[in-house]
Amino acid sequence: MSLTLSNKAKKVKPSSTLAITAKAKELKAQGLDVVGFGAGEPDFNTPENINKVAIEAIESGFTKYTPASGTNELKEAVCRKFKEFNKLNYEPNQIVISNGGKHSLTNVFSAILNPGDEVIIPAPYWLSYPEIVKLADGVPVFVRGGKEQGYKVTVEQLQAVTTDKTKALILNTPNNPTGMIYTREELEAIAKYVVDNDIYVVSDEMYEHLVYNGNEHVSIASLGEEIYKRTITVSGVSKSYAMTGWRIGYTGSSAEIAKLMSSIQSHQTSNPNSIAQKATTEALNGPQDTVLAMVKEFDKRRQYMYNRISKMPLVDALEPLGAFYVFIDLGEALKKEYKGKVIGTSAEFARILIEDYNVAVIPCADFGFDDHIRLSYAISLEQIEKGLDRIESFLKSL
Ligand SMILES: Cc1ncc(COP(=O)(O)O)c(C=O)c1O
Repeated sequence: MSLTLSNKAKKVKPSSTLAITAKAKELKAQGLDVVGFGAGEPDFNTPENINKVAIEAIESGFTKYTPASGTNELKEAVCRKFKEFNKLNYEPNQIVISNGGKHSLTNVFSAILNPGDEVIIPAPYWLSYPEIVKLADGVPVFVRGGKEQGYKVTVEQLQAVTTDKTKALILNTPNNPTGMIYTREELEAIAKYVVDNDIYVVSDEMYEHLVYNGNEHVSIASLGEEIYKRTITVSGVSKSYAMTGWRIGYTGSSAEIAKLMSSIQSHQTSNPNSIAQKATTEALNGPQDTVLAMVKEFDKRRQYMYNRISKMPLVDALEPLGAFYVFIDLGEALKKEYKGKVIGTSAEFARILIEDYNVAVIPCADFGFDDHIRLSYAISLEQIEKGLDRIESFLKSL
């Protein structure tokens, strides 16, 4: 036996969003005034009432193992939230609490995929989906939702790539990186496609509370008994409650899938952090005014950012209606020359911005759209204004 390494592990791409954020931090540490639009997390603190419950959990000794799939108390809180917010009826034995939404997704694909099973991923997509699917021995199949169709995919497109190996579709609304949301009618059509083809839909609803302009968040599983049976609903507290570091995500699924995920988790990580589970119970059961305040602030920044970007030369964006990202089409800008060379790719555009303008943005090749960048508005309005001034002056110089 030679000292070779796992071929599967070697194929995993490191997260490029984390790399850009690290670069921005490094430049800041050198004393440079960098504006970072890379953030994938709210800039707000975790609300006080949640912190307080966590401190009480430590002080009262709630610091031991819990059941591997989470405490009953938290599962009940999740069921109540699913019922009231998502119009979904789940019992505690259908809930698995995991170490963040990413871990929930990992468990889902480990539970449903066999080697070679295909998973349809609409592009643009959150960059971890293809890697998570591959790690579970699945095969990602991409479908492009172009700008002209609101960065969303149609049933006709889904049907065209469906084969007898198709096992699941990933749906992410509100969407990272586009900020788009699927309407009830669009979801009804997709639900029919899922049921007709007898596949699963993995519905990533991590940004469910972050919806603007009076739009509603609709959970696909709420659209009927048949689609409910085929849906695994994934959510968590990272984005909606400013709890990214606590690492709690959860799923609602059939009891059969929940049991498989629970077994997998019992060997891989055991229970998610006991203190974070107490904190999450408070997040879901406690007052929701801090969430509303965050949404209001995000909305203000969203409008400011979208208005400014709409007026900039060479770039274009659709109005985002959810999450906290603006997805920018660089189409014309990429054809321009900078320092004697055609810019060409979003990675090159982002490199110029960070090196010459001290602005960090996320190039979206790893999200399936190489001619776009993603800007997060999970930073202060003051920073947004400064960063957009710099991007605008770069564009005007081209
Ligand atoms: C669409 C989407 N799903 C899931 C996650 C994972 O969330 P968590 O931080 O809870 O693992 C993220 C985080 O960026 C995300 O953007």
